[in-house]
Amino acid sequence: MASRYPSSWLDELRARSDLVQIVSGYVSLKKNGRKYWGLCPFHGEKTASFSVDGERQLYYCFGCKAGGTVINFIMDIERMDFSEAVAFLAERAHMPLPELENSEEYERRRTQRERLLSANREAARFYNELLYQPEGAASLDYLQKRGLTANVIRRFGLGASPESWTALTDHMLEQGFTLDELRLAGLTVVKGQEEAGQADAPVRYFDMFRNRAMFPIIDMYGNVLAFGGRSLGKQNPKYLNTSDTPVFNKRRGVYAANLLRKQRHLERVVLVEGYMDVISLSQFGVEGVCATLGTALTNEQARLLRRFAPKVYLGYDGDSAGQHAILRGLDILEEEGVPAGVLDFPDRLDPDEFIRRDGAEGFQRLPVISPAAYRLLRLRDAMDLSSQEGKIAYAREAAKVISALDPVEREIHIRDLMVQTGFPRETLLDQLQLSVPGSAAPENAPRKISSSRPSPPSEPGKSKSLAAQEKLISILASGQIPEDIVEEKDFEDDELKSIYMRLIRGESVQSVIDQAPDDASRSRYSEILLSPVAESKDQLITMASECVDKIRKSRIRNRCKELEQQILDCPEERRGELMLELQELRKQLKK
Ligand code: GTP
Ligand code: MN
Repeated sequence: MASRYPSSWLDELRARSDLVQIVSGYVSLKKNGRKYWGLCPFHGEKTASFSVDGERQLYYCFGCKAGGTVINFIMDIERMDFSEAVAFLAERAHMPLPELENSEEYERRRTQRERLLSANREAARFYNELLYQPEGAASLDYLQKRGLTANVIRRFGLGASPESWTALTDHMLEQGFTLDELRLAGLTVVKGQEEAGQADAPVRYFDMFRNRAMFPIIDMYGNVLAFGGRSLGKQNPKYLNTSDTPVFNKRRGVYAANLLRKQRHLERVVLVEGYMDVISLSQFGVEGVCATLGTALTNEQARLLRRFAPKVYLGYDGDSAGQHAILRGLDILEEEGVPAGVLDFPDRLDPDEFIRRDGAEGFQRLPVISPAAYRLLRLRDAMDLSSQEGKIAYAREAAKVISALDPVEREIHIRDLMVQTGFPRETLLDQLQLSVPGSAAPENAPRKISSSRPSPPSEPGKSKSLAAQEKLISILASGQIPEDIVEEKDFEDDELKSIYMRLIRGESVQSVIDQAPDDASRSRYSEILLSPVAESKDQLITMASECVDKIRKSRIRNRCKELEQQILDCPEERRGELMLELQELRKQLKK
């Protein structure tokens, strides 16, 4: 988030706002090694995985991956936006707020991101106002027919896009936005010189959304990132959503994050599939509801949700696509260590249809099904338990699900399984042993449910080279090693490369983090930039050289693999040349 405050003033503010002291006002911290540890204030936990790095002035939770600078901490804990948090800290540090940069100058220096966000905000306002004009009557009528109250329409900032081809774009151009900005924000479709193939062809444009009920997608901090537009009748597509833009990545956010953030002490988040499901449940008084944005649940979203509540319930549509999505969603939540449950809507209804039929009481009465019970339910549906083969197949598959559970839950399911298949307990226990992941040794303990366990410091899937690049960034940020030890091209990961460039330009670690494009990046940057564990400067230099070594070796190895393949595939006459390169690289590797 680029800000209107001069960066040197922000650096000063951060320097005068000691993170350890400020966090201590909210969390009781204990020093252990170089860091301070406490119970994370952003997700429920019983063992301390929240760490404060006094040296780097960063916090990071190994459980829910919340992380950032002192400004981010105040934003999250006090639920403030960036400027509010800055004002809060400035007051505390007795620093007068600086003269904000004058508005013309500011306008010019604003980053593209800010321009696009303000275009979206203006468009949301335009659509919302139109709802109450004649051009928006059809949309208003549609929303009302779907049972939405005036109140809930306001809470979600719903709107109407008019029938006209250019109403929004013309309005936005008048407000000083350029066609290019509107195109980048996904508000306007531009057909220009390039498409027509001739330089003098006139530029034509039209509004992306026409004659649709509009759902603004708003992030935790109140930024309008994108829109979903619902057709008013049977026209296709039913929902038109903004594609990814420089400010919107549908895999990273959830719909209604702005409202989630305001609901404190949620016991669980209910994740549904559609905008209308969120709005409808919310109108019936259900708290903590949000939706993915037209994609399957991603790991980033699972991590984001964990910050709002300790558990996530999947409330997908009751049709077969929904059931399939639930199984995948459960896998993702398990991967991220988020305790989960399933709300299984009867009669193939979606949450919106269900709550309109059975009311809030019906919703409260829905049983919450555990992940294992849900997986078993789906297995049973897929198999024919009346035949002997069906029973055997079911017992085998079920054993895989059950072997991963803790002893108490296991016991419950073993009993069910005995009844359903007719196999004796001993047979089922034998089958369970075979299904324990890893080994069949009898003393092998069942895998524990991975709820409040902090995740391991590095994911197993991450390549060695990527891990080395990350470590290198952290070492570089100490400012204690010569910069020429590493080059830009050593960073293959785009985010890491950009962090590197900013650090060598002299930007502070905290400023890099405060300007992270979104929450997922902020969390990643914070984790990477925690201070490296080293005794001395010499040790840092050794570690850095080892990292560089790993990165370069891995690059050469990858090139060798490529060459080996090319040598097999290429025509005779090129082979010699490639062989030479390969031999050269192998020599380098030996060195
Ligand atoms: P209603 O019919 O308005 O009640 O829709 P719903 O809320 O029941 O949504 P549905 O289950 O049909 O779809 C869930 C989500 O998938 C929507 O909120 C959209 O994000 C997305 N979606 C649905 N239809 C389309 C489509 O035609 N195109 C695209 N890109 N996304 C869609
Ligand atoms: Mn629906």
